[in-house]
This record gives sequence, C-alpha cells and structure tokens, in this order.
Amino acid sequence: MKYITLNNGIKIPRIGLGIYALNDEDIIVKAIDDIGYRLIDTARMYGNEKILGRAIKRCSVDRKDLFITTKVYGPDRGYIKTKEAIKDSLNNLGLDYIDLILIHEPYREYKEMYKALEKSVKEGIVKSIGVSNFNKKQYLDLIRNCEIIPTINQVEAHVFYSRKELQKVLEENGTVMEAWSPLAAGKNNIFSNKILQEIGDKYNKTPAQIALKYLLSRNMVIIPKSGNLDRLKQNINLFNFELSNDDIRKIEALEKKKSLFGWYD
Ligand SMILES: NC(=O)c1ccc[n+]([C@@H]2O[C@H](COP(=O)([O-])OP(=O)(O)OC[C@H]3O[C@@H](n4cnc5c(N)ncnc54)[C@H](OP(=O)(O)O)[C@@H]3O)[C@@H](O)[C@H]2O)c1
Repeated sequence: MKYITLNNGIKIPRIGLGIYALNDEDIIVKAIDDIGYRLIDTARMYGNEKILGRAIKRCSVDRKDLFITTKVYGPDRGYIKTKEAIKDSLNNLGLDYIDLILIHEPYREYKEMYKALEKSVKEGIVKSIGVSNFNKKQYLDLIRNCEIIPTINQVEAHVFYSRKELQKVLEENGTVMEAWSPLAAGKNNIFSNKILQEIGDKYNKTPAQIALKYLLSRNMVIIPKSGNLDRLKQNINLFNFELSNDDIRKIEALEKKKSLFGWYD
C-alpha cells in the first residue's frame, strides 16, 4: 500500500474500502487479511460500525496498521452530542482511538461539531479530523474559525466530476481531498465506457481501474466499495502502471462539471 502524509504528519493509505451498505463481516476480514486493505471508511449513518468492530477484532493485522474512518451526522449535531457520538463510535468499533473522524455534511452547527472533534484530538481518542461534502465557501468559513486545519475533505469525485477547483483550494490550505463514489457508483455506464476501456486495454486493466488510477494521479485518497473479492482485488491493484499525459487528456474529456448525486457546489 502507498500512503499520503496528512498535515499532522500521520500517513493515510491512498486506497481504502468504503463500506456504505456493505454489512458482510467476512468480506471485510478478507479485504484486510487476504487482499491488503488497511483503510476502512464507515459512518455512524451507515449503521455498520459494530460489524466493522467485529471484523477488526477478527482480522490478523495489528490495530496500529489499520486506518479507521467514521463520520458524525445529523443526530449528533451540537458540541455535547458530537462528544457523546465519538464515545459511542469508539464503543461500537471496540477501539480506544479512531484514526479519522469527519463531519458527514455541512450541518448548520458544523462549527460546534468541529470544536468537539478538536477536543477529542487533544484527549487522544481521535488522531485526525476533517469534513465531508464541504464546498469551497463552507470549507473556507471553517478554516477561518478552527484551531486544527481539517486533514481531509471527503467529497464526491470521479471521472465525470473531478473537482479540480475545490481540490486546489483544499491543497493550498493543507487539506487532502478524498473521493467518495470514486467509481461514480456505477452511474453513466462507467464500467463500459469506451475511452476507459481503450486506455485499459493498453495496460491490461479494466475501465474501473483506469477511473480509479486517474484519481490517484490527481493525488486523492480513494475509497471504492465492492462486496466482491475479484473486484476488491482489482481496486487495490493500481500501483504497477502509470497513465500517460495523453490518457489523462482523454479521461478529462469525460468531465461533466456537475454532481451525479444532486449536490450543489
Ligand atoms: N461522505 C459521503 O457523503 C459519502 C457518500 C457516498 C459514499 N461514501 C463512501 O464512499 C464509498 C464508495 O462509494 P459508493 O459505494 O457510493 O460507490 P463506488 O465505490 O463509486 O461504486 C460502487 C459500485 O461499483 C461496483 N464496483 C466496485 N468495484 C468495481 C469494479 N472494479 N468493477 C466493476 N464494478 C465495481 C460495486 O459493485 P460490487 O459491490 O458488486 O462490486 C458498486 O455497485 C462508500 O462505500 C462510502 O464509504 C461517502
């Protein structure tokens, strides 16, 4: 696995497994033990922190070599509730610290919620903090009002909506962009896209692998989801080839400049 160093010096795996709607403990254990995933991305909203906690206990990789992300959400709004939520997540996951906690969406109370995350870093129960689905305006407002610059902003990003402008602002301020739905959740027939297929044929890779590799070439962390062992292997097998400038130019022609999930910038 390759890593990116966050603004606090902690290293995050460049590829992780997103487990939204993936409630299969055995698959998560296999993804870690047999395939080599180290970053697992859950959220309080997904309702599967306890399943992940059992998989962490069962797997044979040391806790310190795993990178576990969760997210606080709507019911956790406010300083006190977010603090309680962190304790509850630690309990669900069976851990004494969480590697990364994000605010799932820019709720109206995001500043108080973020203060609770900052406090949890000082207490040592959370190593890194960040946000998710924050647009440029919300992100800039937060960093003007916080003590700890977010390590990560996890946002929708894929070949059809690659977020160059947002990524530039994040990187100028020390925040890494992490791509959710990096395979566009299968939308726009991404897996049979002709351009991705043609490029893939050159390197003996699938369209999915080319789509993911493009995001890696842009220095994002990616968290593709799969419940299938072959596809889990594909999605992590991305470090033995490089896209050419010409490949990247062709992939960038797929840009639609618009969320596929109804998010507004
Ligand atoms: N922060 C947020 O608001 C937010 C929002 C959405 C998602 N997320 C996170 O991002 C993760 C990933 O997003 P996502 O699950 O929406 O979409 P995704 O990873 O873009 O795509 C997942 C879909 O692609 C299929 N797939 C995976 N690998 C494939 C491959 N190599 N070839 C062909 N098909 C493949 C999967 O089917 P199979 O399972 O059958 O392989 C599944 O249907 C989530 O699990 C979650 O952790 C975060």
